[in-house]
Amino acid sequence: MLNWSLNNYLGLANHPEVRKADAEAAAQYGLATPMGARMMSGNTDQHELLEQQLSDFVAKEATMLMNYGYQGIMSVIDALVDRHDVIVYDAQAHACIIDGVRMHLGKRFIFAHNDVDNLEKRLVAASKIVAETGGAILVITEGVFGMSSSMGKLKEIVALKEKFQFRLLVDDAHGFGTMGKTGAGAGEEQEVQDGIDLYFSTFAKSMASIGAFVSGEANIIDFLRYNTRSQIFAKALPMPLVLGAIKRLELIRTQPQLRENLWTIVKALQSGLRERGFNIGNAQTPVTPVYLSGGKMEAHNLIIDLRENYNIFCSVVVYPVVPKDVIMLRLIPTAVHTLEDVKKTLDAFDKVTDKLKLGVYANTANVSLV
Ligand SMILES: Cc1ncc(COP(=O)(O)O)c(C=O)c1O
Repeated sequence: MLNWSLNNYLGLANHPEVRKADAEAAAQYGLATPMGARMMSGNTDQHELLEQQLSDFVAKEATMLMNYGYQGIMSVIDALVDRHDVIVYDAQAHACIIDGVRMHLGKRFIFAHNDVDNLEKRLVAASKIVAETGGAILVITEGVFGMSSSMGKLKEIVALKEKFQFRLLVDDAHGFGTMGKTGAGAGEEQEVQDGIDLYFSTFAKSMASIGAFVSGEANIIDFLRYNTRSQIFAKALPMPLVLGAIKRLELIRTQPQLRENLWTIVKALQSGLRERGFNIGNAQTPVTPVYLSGGKMEAHNLIIDLRENYNIFCSVVVYPVVPKDVIMLRLIPTAVHTLEDVKKTLDAFDKVTDKLKLGVYANTANVSLV
């Protein structure tokens, strides 16, 4: 089965050096160690080493590891603001950001997705509020939006710092390892890494692992170490995940060909889709949406046909994530896909979309599940 639905951008999941590092760390430590939270008995030199290496890589003073991105960023948002502060965040922010904002006791504003003029209006309103409360403003966006494949407008947002006082938190789950000259992410790509106050990413995408981190000024990270509830009151990352992340980061740093291979596939896939007339929206990053017209039943039948009769698996996204008459196929290219895989997929997509237009998928009986 040709699979386009794996969070493994750089192909590290089965890289022999990664498999060896994961296995050796598991043999040496098992999954139990450390047996406590970082603040209790859970801190190790290796956790600190990984933090140091991540700080160097993303060009920030300090880093805090987190067990999962989802709880991590929720809790970081919770720790950063109090009821005097105002959060301003992008309308298409990931669920973990929305859940973090839900815990906020003060005011919050949504700005229209990647609409910097709209953000500016929100910042005017937010600035008035904090002038009265004595609080501050936290702007939250993403480096790469994992559904639409657009990049957050970090350059323009950072430029607003000349007019407004705020801190910027960027979730770069899909940009870390894939974007930028060295793979340091969307901030590096847009040459505004310094303007990002808190840079967050997960190990779940490019690193194909578990864990996450947030990087920024040492005093803020230090504050987070003692105030991020989901990490203070939870067991530290197990050693195999820490040692495995150190190995993965080394490969990201030292083997740029992994990123080059990824981009060869991304470019072939995205230009091939565009040339064949597919709508892939404003794809600017590896994750690739393909927008088709149709309802849930057609989406269901199309995806089964692709899987059973063309040996291609990809995720399908339907209402309410996209409008009712839209089917979104979501492809995640990786460094270990081949140009042959791309060609096979483009040919299959031509066939299934012809069937979609002919109404073949409107009726389940038309799809043979061999
Ligand atoms: C933008 C974004 N942020 C955060 C997360 C959550 O990270 P984790 O899987 O480490 O919990 C994801 C998905 O995994 C994501 O796409």
